[in-house]
Amino acid sequence: MYFFELISYFLLLNFIHSLPVQNSTNGDVSACLKAFYKAAYRGEYNCTESFDFFQVVPAFQQAGFTSHKSCFLEVAKEECSIAQYNLLSTKYQDFLNVLTTVPPSVTPCSDSYFKYNALKCGPMMDELSHRTIDINSVAAKINDTKILEMIELCDKIEACISPVCYSSENQRKSLQEISNGVKLRNTEFAVCISKIERQSPDLSEYTCLDGIDFNTDDRKMQIELYTVKKVCAKRIMKDFCGERAVENFENDVETCLKNLMKLYKTASALNES
Ligand SMILES: *[C@@H]1O[C@H](CO)[C@@H](O)[C@H](O)[C@H]1NC(C)=O
Ligand SMILES: *[C@@H]1O[C@H](CO)[C@@H](O)[C@H](O)[C@H]1NC(C)=O
Ligand SMILES: *[C@@H]1O[C@H](CO)[C@@H](O)[C@H](O)[C@H]1NC(C)=O
Repeated sequence: MYFFELISYFLLLNFIHSLPVQNSTNGDVSACLKAFYKAAYRGEYNCTESFDFFQVVPAFQQAGFTSHKSCFLEVAKEECSIAQYNLLSTKYQDFLNVLTTVPPSVTPCSDSYFKYNALKCGPMMDELSHRTIDINSVAAKINDTKILEMIELCDKIEACISPVCYSSENQRKSLQEISNGVKLRNTEFAVCISKIERQSPDLSEYTCLDGIDFNTDDRKMQIELYTVKKVCAKRIMKDFCGERAVENFENDVETCLKNLMKLYKTASALNES
């Protein structure tokens, strides 16, 4: 559907790249931990299945990482640099202490505890960005499995990055926008737009459109449709899809416009560079 498209993909790129990952200067093992979480999330090593390494309760985390030390190191040996592997295998307990000791509330967000624990959320975001490309081609339909799974994933990421210092205000805002965009696809509003797009009916009797093509690919025109021609768009949608399609019209249009504005700005920025 035209107003969704790659928007979340661009948002996500910004989002993922803003996660800090540093090399092993002064004992920082972010790079290795990031690689570990990725492998564990994807289930690339059998041993990670016997413990939930994404555990958030520090006491359980401490116990599990301790009893599954050999598993962690087995993965790290393959996935990490020799320097980081050596550091982890010799200072495993130090690493665990940093990972599982919640610092006092005055601690700055740059503290390793936050940095390490936030890395857990990385693989979920990767998955979201892959799935986003996937669903761009799915016609809007209520309760589509792919969309429902994505909504669930968005909620999971939201929970993952919500603890203090795990993410920036901007990241939470980006995710919120992505999530709203995905949820919009599960509405009668979106289904209706898809339907009109697919059937491409003759709308010439709607003089209120004033020359605007309802199914236009032009971003500027799309934005016009949902701003100055909003009342007209609503009438058309109601006529073609019934009252249900416009029940949350104001909210849905607002979400839709936010996406469109982002797409428009992204396209302009790309054209200029
Ligand atoms: C981190 O270290 C690896 C090798 O261990 C190197 O290839 C990479 O360029 C380094 N990254 C940064 C950002 O310094
Ligand atoms: C992992 O488990 C699968 C299924 O039980 C098995 O076929 C595979 O050989 C195992 N891989 C390793 C590396 O142990
Ligand atoms: C979609 O799923 C919800 C929750 O299971 C259900 O209440 C609703 O009737 C379903 N809608 C359609 C159109 O299938």
